[in-house]
Amino acid sequence: MKGKFYVIGVGPGDPELMTLKAVRLLEKCQVWLTPTGRKNGESTALAIVENVVSNAGKEILTHYFPMKKVHMGQEPDPEVKEAWDQAAALIFEQLKAGRDVAFPTLGDPAIYSTGFYVCETLLGQYADLTVEIIPGVSAIGASAAAAGQPLCQGDDRLVVIPATFENGRLREVLSQFDSVVLMKVHRVMGRLVPLLEEMNLLDKAVLVERSSQSSQRITRNLQEAVRRELHYFSTIIVRKS
Ligand SMILES: C[S@@+](CC[C@H](N)C(=O)[O-])C[C@H]1O[C@@H](n2cnc3c(N)ncnc32)[C@H](O)[C@@H]1O
Repeated sequence: MKGKFYVIGVGPGDPELMTLKAVRLLEKCQVWLTPTGRKNGESTALAIVENVVSNAGKEILTHYFPMKKVHMGQEPDPEVKEAWDQAAALIFEQLKAGRDVAFPTLGDPAIYSTGFYVCETLLGQYADLTVEIIPGVSAIGASAAAAGQPLCQGDDRLVVIPATFENGRLREVLSQFDSVVLMKVHRVMGRLVPLLEEMNLLDKAVLVERSSQSSQRITRNLQEAVRRELHYFSTIIVRKS
């Protein structure tokens, strides 16, 4: 195979939080396959990249990945699997033609990113490929920095979970760990905030919306946030100590 595939973390939104390596490799790759969560929607990862790297001469393929739950150890939803398969086929065509392909992804590729699913699909179908993962600044670190607080110190135990877990699992995790990062909170605030209140954790929680972006917002009164619509880029940190 002549081309190489790169999954590139582009950080949480502030273009200055892109790494030098991410910039160099995006400059080098002839093709960018950019993910979008809406049919014909814009790619946030692409918007971040275009602040820093010129798209002149790049072939930009925007690919739709349905935002549906993936349960580890279970078959993915057929629509989700189809999107991964189609992306893998598109990438393979480009690599075969000798072009390097970049897959820019929000934050860090190792954290709830489509990039790894695409990578696994690609390698599962075409084993002799060369793939490289480029880490990025995650929204987790960016949100803690925006809130001006650590995630864990000393012997604290930190856990990261999607807030879309059912309440039973959330309660278990919230009671067991010292520091909990809740991602994907935007649609579940209506049940999450009462749960935090019931567990006496409301005053330990901070909501960070669009961390590192110019519209960044920090909210410590979560009851207030329930009454408004949140952006998908919203994370809650619960720190007990
Ligand atoms: C699919 S996950 C992607 C995480 C990403 N790979 C990372 O490392 O940050 C999407 C979730 O990340 C969080 N997120 C992403 N960007 C964010 C930002 N700028 N500020 C706050 N939370 C963000 C939100 O919880 C969002 O629902």
